[in-house]
Amino acid sequence: MENLSEMNRVPEERLERIGKYLKNKVKGKHIVDVNCGSAPLLNYIPHTFKSYYGNDISPELFFPNGILKSNRKNARMVHGNILLEYGDDEFLVEKLKGKKIDILLILGATVGHITPGHAESETQDVTLKRLVSIHKPKIIVLEIAQEYAYDTRFDLMHRYSTEWEGVYKRGAVVKMGTKEELPRNRRVFTTFERKHE
Ligand SMILES: C[S@@+](CC[C@H](N)C(=O)[O-])C[C@H]1O[C@@H](n2cnc3c(N)ncnc32)[C@H](O)[C@@H]1O
Repeated sequence: MENLSEMNRVPEERLERIGKYLKNKVKGKHIVDVNCGSAPLLNYIPHTFKSYYGNDISPELFFPNGILKSNRKNARMVHGNILLEYGDDEFLVEKLKGKKIDILLILGATVGHITPGHAESETQDVTLKRLVSIHKPKIIVLEIAQEYAYDTRFDLMHRYSTEWEGVYKRGAVVKMGTKEELPRNRRVFTTFERKHE
């Protein structure tokens, strides 16, 4: 992303909708928020989860309780059972080894593996597939720009759906934002629920 204020202009609708979907599902669960940015979903779900872990490499992040994180290595914010820390998504795979993930969040998914940019993780794609195959989360929440989801250059919705079909049941696909809005503000979100243990 270009800067944080740009991200903050993205309609809050995505968070409200995802929060509503998760509201009765988070209690006692281990949640991982991949490349969490400022972890905005924390304002939209009850804090009844067992743990909430998020990583990001952005130099400045204002987390929900107002704490500013810098990009020095080992920078982290701990708030009760919430841990948000500096680290790229490859670090995340190492960090989570042996840990349980019940709910995996990929919000504002990027396409850096196709068009690298300073805010686009080139490794997110591989990381996600790895985390899902190792940790077998019960729920995956995928939220993404419609352009990235459906433009044939990126095709993320189809790519992830194909990757996880069979093992996961995909939920309804919810489209948000009008044609008048900037492409980055037109979003889509869906969920994947694991069929078997
Ligand atoms: C589009 S923003 C989404 C942020 C947040 N998930 C949200 O939905 O509000 C993408 C985020 O990925 C982070 N990022 C980019 N490359 C990364 C990497 N290699 N490892 C971890 N985070 C990365 C950026 O700093 C940015 O915060």
